[in-house]
Amino acid sequence: MSTLKEEIERRRTFAIISHPDAGKTTLTEKLLLFGGAIHIAGAVKSNKIKKTATSDWMEIEKQRGISVATSVMGFNYGDYKINILDTPGHQDFAEDTYRTLTAVDSVIIVVDVAKGVEAQTRKLMEVCRMRNTPVIIFVNKLDREGRDPFEILDELEAELHIAVRPLSWPLGIGAKFKGVYNIYEHCLDLFTPDKQKATERVEIDDVNDVRIDEAVGESFATQLRDDLSLIEGVYPEFDESKYKEGKLAPVFFGSALNTFGVKELLDCFVKIAPCPRPIEAVERRVNPEEPAFSGFVFKIHANMDPNHRSCIAFVKVCSGKFERNAPYKQIRTGKSLRFAAPTAFMAQKKSIVDEAYPGDIVGIPDSGNFKIGDTLTQGEDLHYKDLPSFSPEMFMYIENADPMKSKQLEKGIQQLMDEGVAQLFIHQFNGRKIIGTVGQLQFEVIQYRLLHEYGAQCRWEPMSMYKACWVDSDNQQAIEAFKKRKYQFMAIDREGRDVFLADSAYVLTMAQSDFPEIKFHFASEYNK
Ligand code: G4P
Repeated sequence: MSTLKEEIERRRTFAIISHPDAGKTTLTEKLLLFGGAIHIAGAVKSNKIKKTATSDWMEIEKQRGISVATSVMGFNYGDYKINILDTPGHQDFAEDTYRTLTAVDSVIIVVDVAKGVEAQTRKLMEVCRMRNTPVIIFVNKLDREGRDPFEILDELEAELHIAVRPLSWPLGIGAKFKGVYNIYEHCLDLFTPDKQKATERVEIDDVNDVRIDEAVGESFATQLRDDLSLIEGVYPEFDESKYKEGKLAPVFFGSALNTFGVKELLDCFVKIAPCPRPIEAVERRVNPEEPAFSGFVFKIHANMDPNHRSCIAFVKVCSGKFERNAPYKQIRTGKSLRFAAPTAFMAQKKSIVDEAYPGDIVGIPDSGNFKIGDTLTQGEDLHYKDLPSFSPEMFMYIENADPMKSKQLEKGIQQLMDEGVAQLFIHQFNGRKIIGTVGQLQFEVIQYRLLHEYGAQCRWEPMSMYKACWVDSDNQQAIEAFKKRKYQFMAIDREGRDVFLADSAYVLTMAQSDFPEIKFHFASEYNK
């Protein structure tokens, strides 16, 4: 029997993030292949949402429905238990991704060697930075023509605002791609384009070994030596503690499609990536090794099939051992709940589990009892904090289109907001309800679900708005004065917090300079 400490130390819970098309799905699949969780490439459909379906959200939801099973992919790799938390590929579901990032201990970022850092990557990195999440970067598609690796490193550093340190180095690129030198373990892997097979390794003593020349030819070997001496000159030694603090990102190069450079990444990842660490609750810091179970709901996945109107609440275990049928306290309501059919996600299968450890994700079938950010404990009044909600980017007034069904509409809106589908604000000036989302698709999703799940009809009315941001101040008088001046543009969120509705970037900038005592926040927390 292993101890709680041993179970914690062998766990690696992380997410792979990227701009769509950089290779997240392919990399996920190859990691599963190494973990023996699948046996053939192409088996994972993951949360990938095909480009062709972007305008057809029902199709997207269908794919999302299928992807419940791949929301969390657990497998064993050597002595390690790995949990990969999948994130939706479609940017309209970015809010889901932000929340998933609150449940991971580290992140792997995939970047396309030809495209470098793209918009979505930049944004997701911001979230990682807010929480000092350790990141490893995988530069993908080296089998295709791309940019100079040094240029890519500079761009990563400048665009992602993090120090980088290559731990592997490519020899050639595109048609001339020969392989990757593993700086971390000092060995050379030769590139053989093959989707199923791992790489061929050349045993060498160090970078001056003639076996490198024999394997790739003199000119590539010389180039490699030059590059490596430049790297040693420019980048300090890899400092694992800086990586763990989220201040330094090791970089690997490879080709996920060709299963190349992936094993190096995985082997280094399991060694250096953090196991579950203490988490700050509002009341105190909670250590994963504490015997009493605690955890929080970071995601609720609704089943879109009207015949099975259930949800799954995803709980991240933060401390102690989770046990099936044990009574746990839902802090928000004070209720004691028992879970008869919690599921774990191993090797792409969802199955009932009897126990789970910190770092694991448990799926709990739910019919509307849970809210994003809910904390569960063995009895202690703890509130896990830091489930950020970001300033939405799109806004509409929501109106009742069927006066006979206003109760249903109200209930539907409340429940969908609890699930974290979108954010609700009440305009203080006219009392109207405003729904804020990060993507256009959510409006369609909400309208459809209100009708099919609650029998309520809604109508959208466009409003012109640039950004909603939370405002507060240490000076009570200043905030009162601000609210008075801007009373036409003030709203409250569901927690009753003040929100300023700026209708243009100019208005926001002016407000920031006119009211220096007011703090404008672009991310909030759900459960303060
Ligand atoms: P995503 O989840 O980040 O959106 O990306 P995904 O893995 O689906 O990869 C996007 C496309 O890039 C896929 O091609 C995939 O085959 C390709 N790809 C991934 N890794 C590599 C690589 O190392 N080298 C090369 N050359 N291509 C790579 P697709 O044509 O869009 O999809 P599919 O029809 O192959 O599924």
